[in-house]
Amino acid sequence: MDSQQLETENPNHCYDVLEPWLVETMPRSSLRWRWEMFLNWFHWRGKIIKKHIKALIGSSKRSVKNYRTADHVKNTYGRTWSSVVWPHPRKPKSRKDRTLAEWNEKGLVLTREGINFVHLERVMKVVDLTKPSTVLEVGAGMGLNLLTLSCCFPGTKFAGVELTAEGVARAKSVQEEDTLPDVIASFSVFELKDRTAHKTIDFRQGDATRLPFDDNSFDLVFSRLALEQMELIRDQAISEMVRVSKKAVLMVEPFADFNLEGQRPLAIRAKNYFSLSTQDVQKYDLELMAVFGNWPQKISEGAGLAYYHLK
Ligand SMILES: C[S@@+](CC[C@H](N)C(=O)[O-])C[C@H]1O[C@@H](n2cnc3c(N)ncnc32)[C@H](O)[C@@H]1O
Repeated sequence: MDSQQLETENPNHCYDVLEPWLVETMPRSSLRWRWEMFLNWFHWRGKIIKKHIKALIGSSKRSVKNYRTADHVKNTYGRTWSSVVWPHPRKPKSRKDRTLAEWNEKGLVLTREGINFVHLERVMKVVDLTKPSTVLEVGAGMGLNLLTLSCCFPGTKFAGVELTAEGVARAKSVQEEDTLPDVIASFSVFELKDRTAHKTIDFRQGDATRLPFDDNSFDLVFSRLALEQMELIRDQAISEMVRVSKKAVLMVEPFADFNLEGQRPLAIRAKNYFSLSTQDVQKYDLELMAVFGNWPQKISEGAGLAYYHLK
């Protein structure tokens, strides 16, 4: 598979996927959008300054570089996954719980989950093109990606590893349903070939640095916005993804090449997120085969899709 195959034929393709979440669009050159950008810059600059002050008066562990420890991530996501309603009810479009993104010349106001589905749709395209028999997601959260993928590709065996017990419990609770709940199904752009296939996913609680699988267990190992949480353990986590893969690794992450402009470098630093470029990742015995990023990018965090073969 190459980058060309990941491009979309329909130039409005992303708007079709985003329709349920798109609150409004405006020109990026408009005063309103520039004001939004200024507020966002102010927010992230403030966060960085706060972290530096905390580090000065506290221990170095609280500095910007050190705070995203496994315990911090586990507690934060444990709380997140136990507090959200899952499956999400289809929310009314709202300006409150919003994400700001840019695509081409447009500024987009989206309700929060919108970007997830744009990413998931391109991950599905990769699975459709490469036809793996076995797929593992690392950092699977509440299972959004795998629950949908499994029903679209019922011939493929899916597994997921997630750090938090709460995320795994939420994913498994959906597996108790006889068919994939309507609200999850309604967000899939790909045809759901078997609405019962979600029951076959092997969800496990585990740590990306010690994946509970033998070497070469999966045709494709992927992560979506999960390595971003693992900057302090990044070497072990990616080495493990490579170890359990027999062919390919796919990442949808905030690669440095998608965070060069605007407020993105500031926000990525403030969060101590993934700092490598799509090219840099090749140092883990991977060869970059395809890159995609022609989708709306959050103004505080750009993300790209990179597909690698094992060297
Ligand atoms: C932003 S969420 C993304 C969830 C999912 N990939 C998605 O696209 O909806 C990041 C997830 O990575 C998980 N995670 C973070 N560190 C991890 C680790 N060391 N091992 C396994 N999962 C981890 C978090 O618990 C969280 O569920």
